[in-house]
Amino acid sequence: MKTRITEMLGIEHPIIQGGMHYVGFAELAAAVSNAGGFGIITGLTQETPEDLAKEIVRCRGMTDKPFGVNLTILPSFRDTPYDEYMAAIIEGGIKVVETAGRNPQPFLPQLKENGIKVIHKCTSVRHSLKAEAIGCDAVSVDGFECGGHPGEDDIPNMILLPRAADELTIPFVASGGMADARSLVASLAMGADGMNMGTRFIATKEAPVHDKVKQAIVAATELDTRLIMRPLRNTERVLTNEAVERLLEKERKLGDRIRIDDIMDEVMGVYPKVMLKGEMDTGAWSCGLVAGLIHDIPTCKELIDGIMAEAEVLVRRRLEGMLAA
Ligand SMILES: Cc1cc2nc3c(=O)[nH]c(=O)nc-3n(C[C@H](O)[C@H](O)[C@H](O)COP(=O)(O)O)c2cc1C
Repeated sequence: MKTRITEMLGIEHPIIQGGMHYVGFAELAAAVSNAGGFGIITGLTQETPEDLAKEIVRCRGMTDKPFGVNLTILPSFRDTPYDEYMAAIIEGGIKVVETAGRNPQPFLPQLKENGIKVIHKCTSVRHSLKAEAIGCDAVSVDGFECGGHPGEDDIPNMILLPRAADELTIPFVASGGMADARSLVASLAMGADGMNMGTRFIATKEAPVHDKVKQAIVAATELDTRLIMRPLRNTERVLTNEAVERLLEKERKLGDRIRIDDIMDEVMGVYPKVMLKGEMDTGAWSCGLVAGLIHDIPTCKELIDGIMAEAEVLVRRRLEGMLAA
C-alpha cells in the first residue's frame, strides 16, 4: 500500500508503533520495522541521553529498516536534559522523531537543520493546525479512545479524523482505538494516510514487557479502562486495577482541591514495576479502549501481515462488492 506516510517514512505498510513508556525498547521498534511498519523507541524511557544513544545502536543491530524515536515533552521540561537527548537522536542518525506533549517548536530548528522529519501527536484539530503551522511534517491524530493522554476535549476518532482531514494539508495518521484491518481501512476512508497503534503492539510476542501485561490486555474488555487525573487537566486513560480505583476514590473525595502530591503513590515510578516485573496492581498504566478488540498475542509480523491482507479483502471484496451489486 502506498500513502503519503509510507512515502515520507520509506516504509512498506502505513502502520506506526507509537512511543510507549517502558514498552518502546529496541526489541519492539526493530520488530515493527522489520515487519514493514515503523517502529519507535521511547526516548525518555532511557534514563540518560547516553542510554538512548546505546538503545539506538542496539536497534540498528536488529534492523536495517528505518525506525524513529519518541520525544515526549513533559510539562516540567526544564528538569529533563532535552538538549542532550536531542544530541543522541541527531548523532544516532535518526531521521524521524515523534514528538508529543507540549508544543515541539523549541526543538524544530535543530531537527530540521539535521534533516529529521517530525510527526507531532495531537489530540485536537487546533493543535494539529498549530503543528502544521510551525513546520511539523505530519501529525498523529490521537482520539478520545487512545491509551495514554487523550487531552481534555473528548472527541472520538469518528469525528476527529474527518475534521482533521478537512483542515490539514500535511499527512496525518489515525491514532487511538486502532487494532486491525477495519481500523486501517476506516481511517483511510476518513482521510488519514495510515494508522498509529499503541496498546495493540504491547500484546505482541516481541514487546519486551512482562507476560502478565499482555495477558491483562487480552483479558480486558472495552469497559475496563478509566480516565484518571481529569481534575488536574492531565487526563490519562489507564487499565483499571486496585490502585486506579483508590486514585479515583481520592479524586471523588478531594474534588477540585486534589493536587498531584495526593496521588503520587498511584502514579510515581509505576511503569518499570508493571512492565518489567508484572506487578499489575502497583499503580496506573496507560491502556486504550482498544483492549476490547485484542484477543491474541501474535508476532509483529503476523499482526501487520494479517492487517494488510485483511485490508485488501475489505477494500476489494467488501467495499468494491457493494458498489458492484
Ligand atoms: C503503556 C502506554 C505507554 C505510553 N507512553 C507514551 C509515551 O511515553 N509518550 C507518548 O507520546 N505516548 C505514549 N503512549 C501513547 C501511544 O504512543 C499512542 O498514542 C496510543 O497508545 C494510541 O492509542 P491506542 O493505545 O488506542 O493504540 C503510551 C500508550 C500506552 C498504552
